[in-house]
Parts: sequence; C-alpha cells; structure tokens
Amino acid sequence: MPLFKTVRGMRDFLPDEAKAMKNLENRARRIAKLYGYDEIITPIVESYELLSAKAGDEVRSRMFFFKDLGGRDVALRYEFTASVARLVATAFRNEPKPLRLFSVGTLYRYDEPQKGRYREFWQSNYELMGSSRPEADAEIIMLTDSLLKSAGLKGHTFKIGHVGVLRSIFHQEKLQEDTQNAIMQLMDKKQCDAALETVKNAGASANAIKTIQKLMKLKSNDAFDVVDKMRSCVENYKEAADEVDNLFKILKLISESRCEIGIHVDASFARGLEYYTGMIFEVNVPELDIALGGGGRYDKLVELFGGEPTPALGVAHGLDRILLALQMQNASPKEQEASAVVVIAVQESLIAEAMKIAQKLRDAEIRVEVDVMGRKVAKALENADRKKIDYAVIVGEKELAENSAVVKDLQRREQKAIKIDEIANLIKSGNLS
Ligand code: HAM
Repeated sequence: MPLFKTVRGMRDFLPDEAKAMKNLENRARRIAKLYGYDEIITPIVESYELLSAKAGDEVRSRMFFFKDLGGRDVALRYEFTASVARLVATAFRNEPKPLRLFSVGTLYRYDEPQKGRYREFWQSNYELMGSSRPEADAEIIMLTDSLLKSAGLKGHTFKIGHVGVLRSIFHQEKLQEDTQNAIMQLMDKKQCDAALETVKNAGASANAIKTIQKLMKLKSNDAFDVVDKMRSCVENYKEAADEVDNLFKILKLISESRCEIGIHVDASFARGLEYYTGMIFEVNVPELDIALGGGGRYDKLVELFGGEPTPALGVAHGLDRILLALQMQNASPKEQEASAVVVIAVQESLIAEAMKIAQKLRDAEIRVEVDVMGRKVAKALENADRKKIDYAVIVGEKELAENSAVVKDLQRREQKAIKIDEIANLIKSGNLS
C-alpha cells in the first residue's frame, strides 16, 4: 500500500489546529447567543437545484456535484444561505419574524488551493430573516465586528457596497435579469470595461452608461462623501436614489452606534453570488488579500424557493482565514484552559484506585489523563511536564490508607498529601497551600 495523503485542497487539523478551530467556533457560537441567533444544523449534501439556483456561474462551476446512488443530482454545500432559505420557505414558513439563525461547519468549493483558500473550509454563518429595515443590515455588520474583535483580530476594515443601486438603474433601463447578472459577475471580477461594454450592448441609454461610468469611480474611506456623490449621480433614477438612501441609513446607524468600524464604501463593488439585492460587504485585514468574511441583503431568495416574500440578509465568516490572519498578527487567541491533571499509580496494584480517583475528578469537570504506559513515577512526571499538564495526582499505598493522595503542582513544584474528596476543589481553586 502507498502512504496515503489527504485529497488535494483537504486538510487534517492536528490537536493544536483543531483546538484553535474549535475555540473560534465556540466564540462564533457565543456571539450568536449574545445577538439572539439560534443554532440550526443543516445537511452537508443538498439538492443541486437548490444550491445552484442563485449561486452565480463562478461558484456553480466549482461545486462538488455528483449523482447519488438513487440517481439524484446532489452537491456538497458550498454555503449555508441556500439551506437556511430552504428552511424559511418550508419548516419555518409560519414562524413569527424576525428569525435569527446561526450555523457553523464545513463547506466545499473546488477552488484552486492556496494560502487561505481550501476545498474544504469552515464558516460561521448568521442569517436574519424577515426585516427590510436598515437596523438589520447594521446588526449584521456590527455582529461581524464583534466576532473579529473578540477573536483578537486588529485592523480589519469593511468594504461596503449596494447592488440595489446598480440593479435599479438596470431595471429602469429594462435590462434582462440574465444580462444584469452577467454585468455583476464582470464587476465582481473587477472587469469594469467589459461590464460597461455589456451595458452598452444591452441597449442601455447614453445617460445610463454615463451614470454607471461615474458610479464605478466612486470609492473612498470617507463613507458619507461617497454616498453624497452617489446620490447626485443617480438623480434621474428614482429607485436607485432610494437604494442610496438605504445605504446612507445603514452607514448612519453604524456610525451613531458606539462601535468603531473601519469602513470603505465602493459604489462599484459586486459579489459573485447572484441573490444579493441590497447592501453587500466584505471584511479584510491588511495582512491578507482575500476576504475574511462577506455577506449582504437578499430579499428575493426565500420567495424563489416557494416561501412567503421574506426580506433577508446575512453574513458568513471564513474561520480558516480568521485563524490565518490571527497567526499573521501573532495574536492566536489563548483560551483560558481548565487545569489538566495526570493521575499516576505508584505500583500496578493501585491502578484501579488511580482510575477511580480520575473518574471522581472528571465528574467534577476536570480534564484528567491516566498514565496508561505503566511508567515509573519519575518518567510519568517527565511526560506530564512535556505535555504542560498542571497537576499530578500520585496514588501511593501510604496516603491511600488515609484516604489521601499526593497532589503535585507541576508549575510551582510544590506537593502535598490531600484527602481524595478535597482534591477536585483544591485543583479548581488553583491553590494547594
Ligand atoms: P462568500 O463570500 O462566498 O459568502 O464566503 C464567505 C467567506 O467564506 C469568505 O469571505 C471567505 O472568508 C470564506 N471562504 C470562501 N471560500 C473559501 C475557500 N475556498 N477557502 C477558505 N475560505 C473560504 C457566502 O458564502 C455567503 N453565503 C455569505 C452570506 C450569508 N450572504 C448572505 N448570507
């Protein structure tokens, strides 16, 4: 047999990496709790038709698609949003709104593997269903900022745009939805000239072309200045002007709440997924040229899946990339870990007693390893030091006769015989003396 490797684009998470990922996952879960999002678990395999409905050509071409043994067209999920929208159109159809739903787990895209880009990756995903108001948009951005700050990240900035502005102009110019999607895909790839060419070929008016050309140049860290300029750009387009106003309200809510967020507004910003209808955003750090997260408003998706018309928006955070960014900023989050303990029997006849004590400590929620290598005490202690274990409980005949065992603080190098019933409390208090 050959020595097997992981499949291209797939990774193993060794203990430290797995711990970091699980810590971040739990942090995302805590943020969900703080903002009132309930966790749901959806399947990794979904129908291809559901996933491909509004994916956009780029994502569609990168799906892990296959026929199952029953001949069904299925694919591995490439995002959570489609699954959540499916639920809102079905099981949650009659639930009172708003619904705040959180998911976390692995996603699959046949992307070209490189730093921060994998074929299996993790997202924490938050969807807010049932509100068309700007405070919902502001919440999703503030929640993203809360997660990144709580993970220890610094210097992240939000790039914010609004696809509703451009789409309203296209709509007023009677451009077909397919053409609109093609234009947005080109803009997502920063091919603005080709996008403009497509607008021209679709028969848009000279005024529309001039307006779009001007909009494409509007971007700055001075958010309200860009919004002012966008407003004067779209004077002749009533619906587009309303969308600019919507963007203004979202930005105003963010700036008036006390949360300090670095914002760059870009009127030409588009995202690959086709379902977006309003505000869109991505979050970046200077250390990486790929986004740590992204999201936006998609008011038509639930309806497309057969549900009630439901305004909606959400965000997904790339957990692998957040960990990478933290590493690059030398800011790997250190969770306050509970103390770890090793229980060592001095002689073979005491192993059952050692296991009994270990079980008692675990019942008190203490992490315990039992030496299962038959090591002598000195060797077992050496191994505990190597593994940075905090305490050793050494089970010897003499102490056992008095219902006690020796507890050794491996950092302070102090030790003391302690009644077995009191060991858990002492270890939890962190103080042997
Ligand atoms: P997305 O921008 O496609 O949005 O993905 C969100 C995040 O997932 C990206 O910003 C990135 O951090 C991470 N990500 C994407 N592809 C990869 C990859 N190949 N390797 C590592 N990380 C990756 C969505 O998925 C939308 N569903 C977000 C959303 C939720 N919109 C509304 N609700």
